[in-house]
Amino acid sequence: MAAVTSTSLASQLSTPKATTPSYSYSHATQFSGLRRSFSNLDHSPQPFFSSNLRISSSPRKPCRGIVAMAGSGKFFVGGNWKCNGTKDSISKLVSDLNSAKLEADVDVVVAPPFVYLDQVKNSLTDRIEISAQNSWIGKGGAFTGEISVEQLKDTGCNWVILGHSERRHVIGEDDQFIGKKAAYALSQGLKVIACIGELLQEREAGKTFDVCFQQMKAFADAVPSWDDVVVAYEPVWAIGTGKVATPQQAQEVHIAVRDWLKKNVSAEVASKTRIIYGGSVNGSNCSELAKQEDIDGFLVGGASLKVYFYCWA
Ligand code: PGA
Repeated sequence: MAAVTSTSLASQLSTPKATTPSYSYSHATQFSGLRRSFSNLDHSPQPFFSSNLRISSSPRKPCRGIVAMAGSGKFFVGGNWKCNGTKDSISKLVSDLNSAKLEADVDVVVAPPFVYLDQVKNSLTDRIEISAQNSWIGKGGAFTGEISVEQLKDTGCNWVILGHSERRHVIGEDDQFIGKKAAYALSQGLKVIACIGELLQEREAGKTFDVCFQQMKAFADAVPSWDDVVVAYEPVWAIGTGKVATPQQAQEVHIAVRDWLKKNVSAEVASKTRIIYGGSVNGSNCSELAKQEDIDGFLVGGASLKVYFYCWA
């Protein structure tokens, strides 16, 4: 793996290209050539999580020997439902997911809003794990409005998303606070989706790597082990904007983050840790992104909510 310095590659990074958000049924036809073969009589929903990520005749590129903790080197797809949904819409989504055929070698995790965690846990197939979208920094108690790791575990959550850009830049959480949350969650047996990513102005100023590495350092300084951590690179300019990073833009950062792990944590952690991409991933762009060597999965927001997205007519 080539050494990467923040200045050399940062200067080569280009600014994002706008792409038209295209959440529509037309995805299905664009992907017809990529479908896995399945019975024509079987009209159960085929989820974005599985079939779109695989080319029909050949499996996805072999992961570079990535073996994540618990012996899983699987491609990882997280659906971040954010602050969306109602009891009814979530019930429909869960029902679609339950009848979907998921590939065995893809880890699928969904992150419903807190208030629906119980509903989802009680109705969703065990095949899909559940994540929270945030957790408190320590043991629960007199912290109005917060949700503790212990409560999340009690509800059946296995994962938590921490450091999401909406929490960093809208709510104002800083690197150290996020690092401490990650350490506490891991200490209690909750796995962490650790998000990093630069703002548009930071990318334009050539600071993409500096920002991502600083955010990585805050996690590294706090967590005793990376065994239960998935890193999500989510450029802020790509989140919810329809401006997806090109596969090359994403790959450049992913390989740099992996190289950072190698230099600052260990070669073993660098090779084992899954680094997933998030930011306007949808049915039109996911398969090209998934082909990139260092993209080990996705964190999907808007597209993970669309019922039609799971269904191929
Ligand atoms: P998006 O969100 O897919 O809607 O861009 C991704 C995320 O915020 O995790």
